[in-house]
Amino acid sequence: MTTQRTLVLLKPDTVRRHLVGEVIGRIERKAGWSIAAMDLRSLDQDTLEQHYGEHKGKPFYEPLVEFMASGPVVALVVEGERVIEGVRALAGPTDPIAAAPGSIRGDFGTIVRENLIHASDSEESAIRELKIFFPGLS
Ligand code: TYD
Ligand code: MG
Repeated sequence: MTTQRTLVLLKPDTVRRHLVGEVIGRIERKAGWSIAAMDLRSLDQDTLEQHYGEHKGKPFYEPLVEFMASGPVVALVVEGERVIEGVRALAGPTDPIAAAPGSIRGDFGTIVRENLIHASDSEESAIRELKIFFPGLS
């Protein structure tokens, strides 16, 4: 068993389009995965800068941060067997047009920036991002 925790953000487009239940349902249906924490929140500039620091200076950074602050997100901690790789697989690749039908981004997205979901991309990222969003988690 490789039990892990990952940070998931349901982005403002998911909340606006009333797809929160749909996306959480897909995560919940995976055998043995659990939601360890969850809430609806608005993200401030400081949090977004920490979270997306690796992308600072790239042409898409400013519009990305603006989009992520355009409405509330649902932040979740998901735990379970190989959940870091697993949620990334459920999400599909960054560009929703390149994402296969059956994946969250492939089924619901068309615009790269508005690609519905963030999920930590490695154990190292998960540890870093969980500290930003859920600092009190044991
Ligand atoms: P990235 O970390 O590359 O993708 P992922 O979310 O799949 O880990 O990029 C972070 C977010 O930035 C991505 O989800 C959407 C946005 N983005 C753009 O708007 N344009 C781009 O060209 C890229 C690469 C990302
Ligand atoms: Mg990323």
